[in-house]
Amino acid sequence: MHIRLSQRAGWAGGQPISDLMSRALENPHLISLAAGFVDQQTLPVEPTRRALEAVFASEAEARTALQYGSTPGFVPLREQILERIRETDGPEAIGPPPTLEQIVLTAGSNQLLHLVAESLMDPGDIAICTSPTYLVFLGTVKHLGGRAVGVAMDAEGMIPDSLDQTLRRLERAGELPRVKLIYLVPYFDNPCGVTTSQTRRAEIVELARRWSKQTKIHVIEDAAYRELRYAGEDVPSTRTVDPDGDTVVVAGTFSKSYSPGIRVGWGVLPKHLIRPVCDLKGNIDFGSPNFAQHMMAKVLEQGKYAAHVESVRAGYREKLQAMLESAEEHFARLPGVEWRRPQGGLYVWATLPETIGAGPAGRLFNQAIREGVFYVPGEFCYPPEGEPIRKSAMRLSFGVQSPDRIRQGMAALARAIEHVM
Ligand SMILES: Cc1ncc(COP(=O)(O)O)c(C=O)c1O
Repeated sequence: MHIRLSQRAGWAGGQPISDLMSRALENPHLISLAAGFVDQQTLPVEPTRRALEAVFASEAEARTALQYGSTPGFVPLREQILERIRETDGPEAIGPPPTLEQIVLTAGSNQLLHLVAESLMDPGDIAICTSPTYLVFLGTVKHLGGRAVGVAMDAEGMIPDSLDQTLRRLERAGELPRVKLIYLVPYFDNPCGVTTSQTRRAEIVELARRWSKQTKIHVIEDAAYRELRYAGEDVPSTRTVDPDGDTVVVAGTFSKSYSPGIRVGWGVLPKHLIRPVCDLKGNIDFGSPNFAQHMMAKVLEQGKYAAHVESVRAGYREKLQAMLESAEEHFARLPGVEWRRPQGGLYVWATLPETIGAGPAGRLFNQAIREGVFYVPGEFCYPPEGEPIRKSAMRLSFGVQSPDRIRQGMAALARAIEHVM
């Protein structure tokens, strides 16, 4: 019998990263600086146990939590998210404050990103991303049959002039109506650790509005790492520089700050996207797991969340420091090796001289494995169109390993680089 899979199944396939991860998991002795997982040791066992007990303290509440929920999600949790937005961004916003109906809960922010992209993109449509960007979102765009076009970035995020030039070029090619969204990870992005400045955010929103000639161009703010800040001041959401509140979509999550196993994310949607996103979601699952949403609501209600996030930050601050100090110690003497120094998130981005390929088939990757360490090859994080793909970059994650293992891993990586130089 001939099995004929859908075109979409074909588009969804070929994710190089899953291959790499299974290769790594086969050898538990390797120090993985690859996985973007959160630290196993800091997962919130106690606060979650207390929340669970509280949900089960009342039989009626337990039964409600064990039942299906609604498509947009559990109202008390949505109210608490709204309250947190008011506290963090309220006074800064130039546009209208979001309402409860604009908050939609999802199974992690990835689902929200997918639903928004699917609501906007037909095959052949274009998503503009920084070059490099979050590789899973590139997979989402590919799966939808869309095109991801990369725009240059620097230490302040996506470069507005490059965005403007890209849009101009697409207009000349008659492709402007196909541009549906600009995707940003403006807090300690994955993979570069860069935070987009407030000025840049405003310029990007302004460009999205100006270039929305025939088709509306949305800006998606993926704020996955916003709460993982270890130094400096928080930057208000890109939503605060959206004058009408109809251009920016925010994707938030409790995965990084609390627990990815509970997997609750949310969206702050412009009003016109609530209906399409909920229609799609209605067809997929008519609501993400209600139990997880009750648990998260209880955690917030019990007031244990902020203290937990603070303790998580303290742990990662130490790990980031371990990675940056090791980079200073081992990389600084290697000619042409450079790295960014983020103030938060889970990643350090390092670049090598262009002649050293860091890809999975290259000499460095294999030598690194021989030395007992591995990383995510930076080339996986580049949109296929737009800016050139840099083959000599590495995404180094400091989330999972202990400071000691990070130091060992960085020393091993430096030996591997030296060997191939
Ligand atoms: C930039 C970015 N966005 C979104 C996510 C997805 O998180 P979740 O779906 O667990 O909320 C991740 C996870 O690694 C990420 O790095």
